Amino acid sequence: MSVQKKHLVTAALPYANGPVHIGHLAGCYLPADLYVRYLKACGKEVLFICGSDEHGVPITIKAKKEGISPQQVVDKYHELMKKSFADFGIDFSYYGRTSSKIHHETAQKFFKKLYEKGAFKEEVTQQYYDEEAKQFLADRYITGTCPRCQNTEAYGDQCEKCGATLSSTDLINPKSTLSGAVPILKETKNWFLELDKLQPKIQKYIENQKKNWKTNVYGQCSSWLNEGLKPRAMTRDLDWGVKLPNEIKNAEGKVLYVWFDAPIGYISASKELLQNNAQFEDWWQNENTELVHFIGKDNIVFHCIIFPAMLMEHGNYILPTNVPANEFLNLEGEKISTSRNWAVWLDEYLKDLPERQDELRFVLTSIAPETKDSDFSWKDYQTRVNSELVSIFGNFINRVMVLSHKFYSGIVPELPVVSNEEILSKTTLANQEISKCIEQIKANLDNYKFRDALAQFVNIARTGNKYLAETEPWKLIKTDEQSTQYVMHRALQMCAALQAYSKIFIPHTAVKLAEQLNFDFNLKTISDVFEIEFKNGHILGKSEVLFKPVEDEEMEKQIEKLQQSKTENGQSANESEKNVLSEAQVKQSIAFEDFDKIDLRIGKVLEAEKVPKADKLLKLIVDLGFEKRTILSGIAEFYKPEDLIGKLVTVVVNLAPRKIRGIESHGMLLMAGNDQGKLICVGPEQDIEAGSIVK
Ligand code: 2FM
Ligand code: ZN
Repeated sequence: MSVQKKHLVTAALPYANGPVHIGHLAGCYLPADLYVRYLKACGKEVLFICGSDEHGVPITIKAKKEGISPQQVVDKYHELMKKSFADFGIDFSYYGRTSSKIHHETAQKFFKKLYEKGAFKEEVTQQYYDEEAKQFLADRYITGTCPRCQNTEAYGDQCEKCGATLSSTDLINPKSTLSGAVPILKETKNWFLELDKLQPKIQKYIENQKKNWKTNVYGQCSSWLNEGLKPRAMTRDLDWGVKLPNEIKNAEGKVLYVWFDAPIGYISASKELLQNNAQFEDWWQNENTELVHFIGKDNIVFHCIIFPAMLMEHGNYILPTNVPANEFLNLEGEKISTSRNWAVWLDEYLKDLPERQDELRFVLTSIAPETKDSDFSWKDYQTRVNSELVSIFGNFINRVMVLSHKFYSGIVPELPVVSNEEILSKTTLANQEISKCIEQIKANLDNYKFRDALAQFVNIARTGNKYLAETEPWKLIKTDEQSTQYVMHRALQMCAALQAYSKIFIPHTAVKLAEQLNFDFNLKTISDVFEIEFKNGHILGKSEVLFKPVEDEEMEKQIEKLQQSKTENGQSANESEKNVLSEAQVKQSIAFEDFDKIDLRIGKVLEAEKVPKADKLLKLIVDLGFEKRTILSGIAEFYKPEDLIGKLVTVVVNLAPRKIRGIESHGMLLMAGNDQGKLICVGPEQDIEAGSIVK
């Protein structure tokens, strides 16, 4: 007898450096959740693990930007992310964090085991060092000119302009973003995992698994393997992270590489959840466990090559069976960018569109970037919600519920024997169609094809609507009561099937639907919809509309918000990004004629006030001598409105007007900004008339 497999499902630990946005949800957490809900509904034993990734340079950069400590950053975002996941029904068995004591101990023990087994080689290499800041520089802390496209603001690991993957020593004129100093190369010792030696084992493992892997995942792995794996440092010269185990000598000032400790987060979070060692081993060290990692495509190499290599070298653990990585989700045709605030944040979504979690789950599943990048747009969101959830799903349930209350006072009618051939054949056809849908939902979910599974789920409701349209129970009742009762019973069975499958895709709706049907149906027991049984005299709950149509105004607000936040925060995010970079480098030179195009004048601030609901913005009336202008400026954090009155400021007067928060701004104030993001007005050194030309 074959033992039933249990499933250990993980979702990539998100960096705790910002709230969760729709790209995260669509690319990783939602498909993982759908898969887990499906497995559970089939009666499988499942552990679903995630947590916050609280180490690495993304955290320290955020801390520097916000002027707080890395610990404060992760404390803030860990809670926010955990809440968003819960709000959207991402049903983790456990959501941990890598700053926990158990995680640090587990990661150190893991490293020690590999160290003792001789998996590492110690190597002294030359790394960039900032003599002013007195620290080695992670690649992200170095900028310089990209050797490929000459962009002067390329990072040490990547040029964001041409997309080149770089190593910091590739940069021309490197500068430290910490102090602006030119970094020097300094020797340092680190511990390298000898992936080159492990290549044959890894290759064998991947070849064994590949038949079930997605082509994009296997493709990336084989391209890494074809290039030949190289030793990779598993330690870093940083002060934020998991310290190396005490037993390792000369490791002061070093921490584990974040990509060494983060996947161990899956293990440590499981340890935190499970009661004892035996239970833990029963998951992580049990050949009957299928380990499945849900991730975005940028994490493939770490989950398919490096983590399996670590697990193999450790020796006690099972290896991932599948890594169904997704591509990326774009927003309104552009790449989602947290620094440009080009994103739909889950916490804000819920504030703006309360109780519409399932609408977002539905839309994101139907456009999930499973095989290629996909695009979210608010118009498309509205269309999908209104034409599928409202008009097909919600409408079917509502019609059946309303008619049941009307004809049978909300009591499920018994299934009579009928002889109406036409009704019987239409019913058989509907049953066949629904059976096909169910078969396909299952097959698609088994193969991580969530979009197709969802489409089939909607098809059940579509078939239901067609069945009602063809049998017309509202007319039939006048001539054939028996057949009407039969049709309504069948239609209620279809509603029951939809309730059971809702638990996977739209779980908040599943709860409401269970209340309406006054029963929570078990998907495991549904193979044929018409075998679903209602107990005699089963009383239905109150009928209520499940989905409200999304109105044009709601969408217009979202689109406007996105545009405004792009202008407002995009500008200030760029400004603060520039602050990180600009002190360390000088922009490319421009011709005098180009500079001369800018019309700069001295202006006098006459009035200043805060812009409602915009924390950063002030609205100013500025006297420019020849006219008075309304100018919006993102300086509310640094100036009280009253302190600005009468101040002389420098204004770009020929900047094209821009609408921000519905107010047209005619010009821009010049500001000096430092590394910490502080802004101060640039003005004349002595008193001078408003309108004076800056030359
Ligand atoms: O890319 C990221 O957001 C990483 N924090 C993912 C880590 S996944 C795992 F290794 F923990
Ligand atoms: Zn470049």
